[in-house]
Amino acid sequence: MKKQLQDVFKGFSKLSREERLKALREVGALHDSDIEYLSKGGLRDTTLGEKFIENVIGYFQMPLGVATNFRIDGKDFVIPMAVEETSIVAAVCKSAKWIRESGSITTEVVGAEIIGQIQCAKIKDFTHFEKQILSQKNYMIEISNREVAFGLVRRGGGVRDIQVRRVPRGDGSDMAVVHVLMDPCDAMGANIMNQVCEFLKEPIEQFTGEKVTMCILSNLVDTKITRAVVHVKDIDADLAEKIEEASLFAQQDPYRAATNNKGVLNGIDPVLVATGNDWRAVEAGIHAYACRDGQYRSITRWYRENGGLTGVFEAPLVVGTVGGVTTLHPTAMMCMKMLGTQSANELSRVIAAVGLVQNLGALKALTTVGIIEGHMKLHTKNLALGAGAEEKEIPMVQKKLEEILAIRKRISLSNAIDVLKELRAGQPATTATTTTHHH
Ligand code: MEV
Repeated sequence: MKKQLQDVFKGFSKLSREERLKALREVGALHDSDIEYLSKGGLRDTTLGEKFIENVIGYFQMPLGVATNFRIDGKDFVIPMAVEETSIVAAVCKSAKWIRESGSITTEVVGAEIIGQIQCAKIKDFTHFEKQILSQKNYMIEISNREVAFGLVRRGGGVRDIQVRRVPRGDGSDMAVVHVLMDPCDAMGANIMNQVCEFLKEPIEQFTGEKVTMCILSNLVDTKITRAVVHVKDIDADLAEKIEEASLFAQQDPYRAATNNKGVLNGIDPVLVATGNDWRAVEAGIHAYACRDGQYRSITRWYRENGGLTGVFEAPLVVGTVGGVTTLHPTAMMCMKMLGTQSANELSRVIAAVGLVQNLGALKALTTVGIIEGHMKLHTKNLALGAGAEEKEIPMVQKKLEEILAIRKRISLSNAIDVLKELRAGQPATTATTTTHHH
């Protein structure tokens, strides 16, 4: 019988890389060909790179890890994360484990349409413009679907609505902006939306007698919102209150909101990158949505409820599972297969969950031990390396640095240099000597 994912999650971080690959193969998340591909260092042939961008000189390699312990809407996932920052993967796995053991993650996507914009910068008569567009709306929807979005229509999507907005120019007059609402199905939809908008340029000019100035999709997709909810049942009352306070801080203060949201994106971006999605588009949408009431606020909120803690993430998170890099880049394709999401909406829901769980881990650390502690093991190692320690000297230097840290509550590269110097001089660096050096 095939092993279950939850068996693989146990002790996963303690395995060697080879053992991890083997474990993922045993549950069917990876195949032999994937393991061979990864072992050879992934994508190397630059032909594909040349297809994506210009002036190619090679590839930029990023660590690819997996987030374990995620059970979302009752389903287990192995989640690929491509990211360079220490602690992100470890922290998210730890929080996901906590939730898995004493809580739940539920998600949904509300709304289906993405937005395209057609600008008429200078208009003679807004009222006439609006009247004309609205009276021709059904016809324009119909021709867009027939001439441009027919592929989407076949899959159950397509253009659904056309709206008119009046946007102040700031000089007392207004511009007119037409919004095209379209269900992109499993595509991210940027290309097809831009085509629809450009296609509508001519009929709009003809019907209204005004001039279209530009056409482009909008990343502020407030018509399609992804929602993830985490509920933790078993939580210390004091900790729950601290997390609630941290959340209030991020809701009320834009300086804190920016960092809070950065922490949410620590979870979101790596999955977007690994699955070949446009992380800039998602980030832009999330930040714009975060200041929809005029003040930049946190994209998540946490509050105490029924003796437990509830967290909510709510924002546009438009991704695609067909088209673009997702279905061209072999690593992205492998990641998509490993993740096993069945639709763009499911992928979006999983990514929202990762962002919210990442946020919980950060808030828990910040309100208890502080952010430094989690980084310390790797930080001391980096300091040791930075000081020029050889492989065999590293554990000794690390150990000394940890002692210094315990006493002085901070360590720096100069501590590492001192420790190494004393170690090499044969006089064991005592905590006392190294701590007095810089006074
Ligand atoms: C660091 O990458 C992310 C955090 O700053 C997020 C936060 O402050 O919530 C820890």
